[in-house]
Amino acid sequence: MRSNSHVLFSVILLSFTINIIHVRSMGKSESDSGSFLISCGSSDGGTDADGRKWVPDSPYLNSSAISINSTAQTQDPSLPSQIPYMSARIFTSPSTYQFPVSPKKRLWLRLYFYPSTYSNFSSSDAYFAVVANGFTLLNNFSAFISAKALTQAYFIKEYSLTPVHSGKLEITFTPSSQHSGSYAFINGIEIIHMPHIFKEASWVSYLGQTLDLGTYSFQTMFRLNVGGQYIGPTGDSGLGRIWYDDSPYLYGAADGVTYEKDKDMKIQYSSNIPEYIAPVDVYSSARSMGPNPSVNENYNLTWIFQVDANFTYLVRLHFCELQFTKINQRVFDIFVSNQTAEIGADVIGWVGSKGVPIYKDYVTYVTDDPGDEELWVALHPTVSEKPQYYDAVLNGLEIFKINDNMRNLAGLNPTPSEMLLEAEAQVFGDSSPSNHNPGKVIGGVAGAAGLAVAAAAVCFIAYERKKRKAHGTGSSVGSGLPIYGKCQISTGKLTISGKGSSQISTLRGHFCCHFSLSEIRNATKNFNESEVIGVGGFGKVYKGIINGGTKVAVKRSNPSSQQGVREFQAEIDMLSKLRHRHLVSLVGFCEENGEMILVYDYMARGTLREHLYKNNKSTLPWKQRLEICIGAAKGLHYLHTGVKYTIIHRDVKSTNILLDENWVAKVSDFGLSRTGPSLHQTHVSTLVKGSFGYLDPEYFRRQQLTEKSDVYSFGVVLFEVLCARPALDPSLPKEQVCLSDWALLCQKNGNLVDIIDPQLKGKINLESMNKFADTACKCLADQGLERPSMGDVLWNLEFALQLEENPYDGKCAEEKANDAYAMHSFSLTTEEERTSSELEDSSNSAIFSQPADPNGR
Ligand SMILES: *[C@@H]1O[C@H](CO)[C@@H](O)[C@H](O)[C@H]1NC(C)=O
Ligand SMILES: *[C@@H]1O[C@H](CO)[C@@H](O)[C@H](O)[C@H]1NC(C)=O
Ligand SMILES: *[C@@H]1O[C@H](CO)[C@@H](O)[C@H](O)[C@H]1NC(C)=O
Ligand SMILES: *[C@@H]1O[C@H](CO)[C@@H](O)[C@H](O)[C@H]1NC(C)=O
Ligand SMILES: *[C@@H]1O[C@H](CO)[C@@H](O)[C@H](O)[C@H]1NC(C)=O
Ligand SMILES: *[C@@H]1O[C@H](CO)[C@@H](O)[C@H](O)[C@H]1NC(C)=O
Ligand SMILES: *[C@@H]1O[C@H](CO)[C@@H](O)[C@H](O)[C@H]1NC(C)=O
Repeated sequence: MRSNSHVLFSVILLSFTINIIHVRSMGKSESDSGSFLISCGSSDGGTDADGRKWVPDSPYLNSSAISINSTAQTQDPSLPSQIPYMSARIFTSPSTYQFPVSPKKRLWLRLYFYPSTYSNFSSSDAYFAVVANGFTLLNNFSAFISAKALTQAYFIKEYSLTPVHSGKLEITFTPSSQHSGSYAFINGIEIIHMPHIFKEASWVSYLGQTLDLGTYSFQTMFRLNVGGQYIGPTGDSGLGRIWYDDSPYLYGAADGVTYEKDKDMKIQYSSNIPEYIAPVDVYSSARSMGPNPSVNENYNLTWIFQVDANFTYLVRLHFCELQFTKINQRVFDIFVSNQTAEIGADVIGWVGSKGVPIYKDYVTYVTDDPGDEELWVALHPTVSEKPQYYDAVLNGLEIFKINDNMRNLAGLNPTPSEMLLEAEAQVFGDSSPSNHNPGKVIGGVAGAAGLAVAAAAVCFIAYERKKRKAHGTGSSVGSGLPIYGKCQISTGKLTISGKGSSQISTLRGHFCCHFSLSEIRNATKNFNESEVIGVGGFGKVYKGIINGGTKVAVKRSNPSSQQGVREFQAEIDMLSKLRHRHLVSLVGFCEENGEMILVYDYMARGTLREHLYKNNKSTLPWKQRLEICIGAAKGLHYLHTGVKYTIIHRDVKSTNILLDENWVAKVSDFGLSRTGPSLHQTHVSTLVKGSFGYLDPEYFRRQQLTEKSDVYSFGVVLFEVLCARPALDPSLPKEQVCLSDWALLCQKNGNLVDIIDPQLKGKINLESMNKFADTACKCLADQGLERPSMGDVLWNLEFALQLEENPYDGKCAEEKANDAYAMHSFSLTTEEERTSSELEDSSNSAIFSQPADPNGR
């Protein structure tokens, strides 16, 4: 008896504690400074159905805004509560809200809409735009039409915005000028700081290629608790998200089977997948294909979603194995829009055990071809792996729209489908209940509350654009030898000094300065956001001024970046030894207070890419383009052969070729560099890294790296230079999207001249162009072995330059190219002696060896 009551008491105590924890965490997320729950147009706020407290909007409204507060005339029975839906703020002219937020944190922004008649304003008259933090969230937006298409009285639009560097989030509502009597309205605004949950995603059907998500804003399109039930904002793990049932989105009759975890099984979050990624309830339920292997072998478990065309989408799939414990028990393929996203997915293989959550991110571009406004997610057992069970599983699914390169997220208003209108007529006109399945109709047409439907605008390479803002066009670096404190930096002279190893230690001191953190802070105005010239996966690059006038680029590692201290030191060690006219030089570093900072020469003219097609127009004459390519080729040739251990750049692209004030090309960003094969190996096997559109197909097929991978990427750069267009442009017709494929095809068909930069037409020597194009094509050979070496590429480019300069005498040109090449080889030899002896002494350390990836399978 005694022990029984004891148990009972513990249980009560336990549930009591859980409640307290629950209440506390709720309270915290709401009072967090910078989190807002705003009931617009209401004079004293109130509490909603979930017990969340909302406050009035007037303190955040810009004093210059003219607005009307109003109450809806009718209350739809489906409204969960009066707050925030029954009151609205109405704007008849552009008006702005301003909220103080953290300048560093990503934000969830949720807009609550209840289209209804407010005073004398009819709901069908509202057409408006909403802009936040420079991103167009909505344009020519009709809440009335959207609600109709969703078959809901109210809805929520959710966005994830990049950090607002000014610390002031401005949200501007602008009534459309295209419709007379148009106005804007809003019922509720929710803002919360969120962790950085967007990192890197794999491109569907370009296996091994990734997109860096950090610099984008997103609109949530769908968020589903697969095989489970609706989870409201207070049931979410602290981020106020809503998770919907997935069944309305299932395709066909094959629904698979759903199941839940055992009661006593615990979901074990890890530091990689913390609880805020998705709540326990999402991982506790799943949908699988079913028990019959022969049935499973013959169908795909498929979900279908309506999305807006001309956008890139992030598809996030959440997995947690609840039944099996061993590798190769359940292995399946993942398809997104009929393209392969993953082959042989094995949840246990990824995480090691049952009950451990993991998510996978994929990105895909949805074009505007007829019938393409659907996004399909399908799972099928990987029969070729002969898993124990022919089955597949999914626990959760999110789909986000990624902003395009106009910072736009707005689509078109949805067109309610005929099927929906018919269904509506049946419900309202004909009182007999129809025998169709309403869930499927609604799901198929639009989707669950708020994460609505629409369609619009351009393509995706926006993050490149943002990065390219980089390096700026600021004034030039002072000529002569810059002096940094005690350090004397001379890129020119050092290449001819230092034949013996005795000088190395002294040279090393000169090569690379050690800066204090306060010096760096002074140089960058305390890491002022206004000095940011580039952003990447590693962190930010700032413009800095040291010694009262010398410009430098300061690369500050993001504390959360994966780069460890050892790698950082390895990079310094390697960079400080690499000196070449065509490589960006390391000036110094700072390692203090856990900061890892590298200081480089400032490149006054920015990236090669911005001079090719920044404003759709390149101003570079052909000869200058050739000289830039030759410079970059020399830099790469030096990396491949100028030092004892071949250094493979791994990320050759037009944004990693920088230009100094004299238009001298310098190869930059060795963050991904690895030393190449030693005598016994012929390749470095490593995780595939690099940039989309430039990656050697052989490299990602075989995950083997040779210097010929750089040659391939450089071939893509050469075509970029010739055609003045990006390596990838998904807004173009399919066959033109990928520059390397398109250029090869045109060359094969003999019409390459039609796709060259229009600015060059008539101003380019055809022989020079042919030599150049021919070289570029050879770089793009499918097999690394068939590609020329960087030295050959260099020779051919020199030749193309001679043909341009001296078009009438090909033979003479060839001789000159030979001479130029011979001279270049000579200068390399002297460098080789110096650098190889330096690298030798560090070759025993493990610095250059790539650690095996512990997560790799
Ligand atoms: C807010 O109002 C002030 C004047 O009250 C005005 O100077 C400022 O431009 C307004 N800001 C916006 C974003 O409208
Ligand atoms: C509008 O706001 C004013 C001042 O806050 C308040 O007195 C009034 O009652 C509000 N009107 C409505 C319809 O809520
Ligand atoms: C509604 O009434 C207000 C004044 O009460 C007026 O300023 C406004 O123009 C009217 N709007 C419409 C759409 O009639
Ligand atoms: C996928 O394939 C199916 C059948 O082949 C087709 O009906 C559907 O439109 C395709 N979906 C997409 C998004 O291409
Ligand atoms: C499953 O989907 C993939 C990709 O669309 C398709 O290639 C395959 O034929 C489908 N399998 C079945 C059995 O429908
Ligand atoms: C605005 O949206 C409406 C409804 O979708 C559409 O008919 C109209 O053409 C759009 N106007 C503009 C300027 O895009
Ligand atoms: C998508 O882009 C194409 C080409 O730029 C354009 O013609 C089409 O109208 C766009 N579609 C939508 C829905 O915006």
